[in-house]
Amino acid sequence: MGKLSWVRSILTAYLFTSAFLLGFSTALKEGQTCVVDSNCNSGLHCETCVANGNVRPRCTRIQPLIPTSKEKGLPFNQYTWLTTHNSFAKLGDRSATGSIILAPTNQQDTVTSQLNNGIRGFMLDMYDFQNDIWLCHSFGGNCYNFTAFQPAINVLKEMQAFLEANPSEIITIFIEDYVTSPRGLTKVFDAAGLRKYWYPVSRMPKNGGKWPTVDDMVQKNQRLVVFTSKSAKEASEGIAYEWRYIVENQYGDGGMIAGSCPNRAESPALNTTSRSLVLVNHFPDSPDITQACKHNSAPLMGMVNTCYQAAGNRWPNFIAVDFYKRSDGGGAPAAVDVSNGHLVCGCGNIATCKPNMAFGTCNLPEPSVTPAPGTVANDSSFANFEKRPVQGRWLPGTVLVALFLSLSI
Ligand SMILES: *[C@@H]1O[C@H](CO)[C@@H](O)[C@H](O)[C@H]1NC(C)=O
Ligand SMILES: *[C@@H]1O[C@H](CO)[C@@H](O)[C@H](O)[C@H]1NC(C)=O
Ligand SMILES: *[C@@H]1O[C@H](CO)[C@@H](O)[C@H](O)[C@H]1NC(C)=O
Repeated sequence: MGKLSWVRSILTAYLFTSAFLLGFSTALKEGQTCVVDSNCNSGLHCETCVANGNVRPRCTRIQPLIPTSKEKGLPFNQYTWLTTHNSFAKLGDRSATGSIILAPTNQQDTVTSQLNNGIRGFMLDMYDFQNDIWLCHSFGGNCYNFTAFQPAINVLKEMQAFLEANPSEIITIFIEDYVTSPRGLTKVFDAAGLRKYWYPVSRMPKNGGKWPTVDDMVQKNQRLVVFTSKSAKEASEGIAYEWRYIVENQYGDGGMIAGSCPNRAESPALNTTSRSLVLVNHFPDSPDITQACKHNSAPLMGMVNTCYQAAGNRWPNFIAVDFYKRSDGGGAPAAVDVSNGHLVCGCGNIATCKPNMAFGTCNLPEPSVTPAPGTVANDSSFANFEKRPVQGRWLPGTVLVALFLSLSI
């Protein structure tokens, strides 16, 4: 009897909490139980991570801290930027040709939404298609209606609008370049109005030196950094050949083996210090939205640490993932915050960096608002719901059980 009435009051409390959360916006913190995104504080959304056994919907981070909000005076290569792999391949999109898309998708929201969530690196696959340049997720170097997402200029114009509206922000683009039409890339960047933000190749450090400071790049309005995978375009079009400036680990399944951080074939070894920028890829060969919450959590932080060592004790400047919003708590945003903490102020998290503090003089203990990825504390009052196997149907189930108990006890 005592036990049953305890169960009943818990269920009743849960019922009322759920009804309350469903009906009203509330300002819930990271890790708290939610029903819809609007229940959570800004920078969070409401989701489960069934792949990790977490079926309780909780407020989960979707935004890193913008490191330049703490310190603007450091070289560009002393910051970490959250980067989306195949940023344009949005779940549920139809091809702008009208065709359905028969190609994998890697993200859940538009480039504008990604920018607003603090994404600053974009991996874009560009192809010649229909007398234009298109964003395609294709094979054999050819784009087809059913693999063509949209003309590249659409997404480049979204970036142009963001740079215009946010005069101290910097965007980096990594082009997987299948464009062979003469000056095809130059034309599309010019047409999108991005030329005036172009960061010139001549100002990129060639021998492992420091990049100019973010302040300097902002003052000169050189706020768009573009890399191509085609080496000849550096001389012909002034578009930097990526692996002259960046070291990068293996992408796909080969880059997800815990404890190992090999370079991708095109990149010099990770510890090549004549390259000032370090990029960590962490996503499988086949994008997987259900597993992404797991991949983006503890295994991502583990890989960032592994690649830090492989790169000769260098933290990554770019962390590239699929479905960046998905995680089991802090996810990719938290990994970026950790990396930025080390780079910006020599502490374990950017949240602890203070203006004008001496490097490495961290105030311990670190604030509880930024737990390490994958270690969000269990909410004990709801712990008995953790093992319920059915996702999404728990609310009506709870209502029925509560009604039953209130009638029968
Ligand atoms: C591809 O889409 C275009 C419209 O953008 C259409 O004119 C063309 O017929 C389509 N091609 C095929 C093979 O379906
Ligand atoms: C770089 O790493 C390789 C292994 O990938 C190692 O053999 C080499 O000694 C390292 N070089 C330096 C300068 O640490
Ligand atoms: C949360 O609960 C799960 C399963 O009950 C357990 O494995 C995990 O260690 C707990 N995490 C924390 C941070 O207490």
